[in-house]
Amino acid sequence: KAWEVLQAGGTSLDAVEQGCMIEEANEKGQSVGKGGLPDRDGNVTLDACIMNKHGDCGSVVYMQNVTHAISVARKVMEDTPHVMLAGKGAEQFAYEQGFKKEDLLTEASKKAWEEWKIKSEYKPIINIENHDTIGMLAIDKNGDISGACTTSGLAYKMAGRVGDSPIIGSGLFVDNEIGAAVATGLGEEVVKTVGSFLVVELMRQGKSPQEACEEAI
Ligand code: GLY
Repeated sequence: KAWEVLQAGGTSLDAVEQGCMIEEANEKGQSVGKGGLPDRDGNVTLDACIMNKHGDCGSVVYMQNVTHAISVARKVMEDTPHVMLAGKGAEQFAYEQGFKKEDLLTEASKKAWEEWKIKSEYKPIINIENHDTIGMLAIDKNGDISGACTTSGLAYKMAGRVGDSPIIGSGLFVDNEIGAAVATGLGEEVVKTVGSFLVVELMRQGKSPQEACEEAI
């Protein structure tokens, strides 16, 4: 989808938003948007952020009942003087912007949660996570870069847990002159290293993308 937007001459910002929206709407994907696995209390909570060529950014944190977290993040960036909106405030803002209220917990994810509750085992280990995130970077015909990141976070996380995905510099960072980085995986580790910012700064110092990622890892 993102490629279609770029091929039609669209902006990198539209490309990353529309690309991420595909997976947010895909109920079979259990780590992003509708159908995402819930926290241990059965609530699906979404984190997302977006950043454009100017370094403007927006994010939503721990938002419930709205599928397209990435589009709400874009609205935060474009239509508010703020960068982050969290929880009920983010949800309220989304409704005010015309987003519809939806139950994000699908039958399949509810069943998986009910099965998980029997043992309630919870030991998130890096690289063996029970989730993944959609991160998308694009560069358009003008050479402008944008990035987006959206997730339902760790399956069966503690209520209130937030990972790297809505945090600019951790889950995503874009510098139009240097490059961009976006992260998936265990968010706690990415937050500790401010991972995406670190990768971009290492590229600024002259490292290749591969070298920068290896050093950050
Ligand atoms: N990287 C997504 C998360 O940890 O929530």
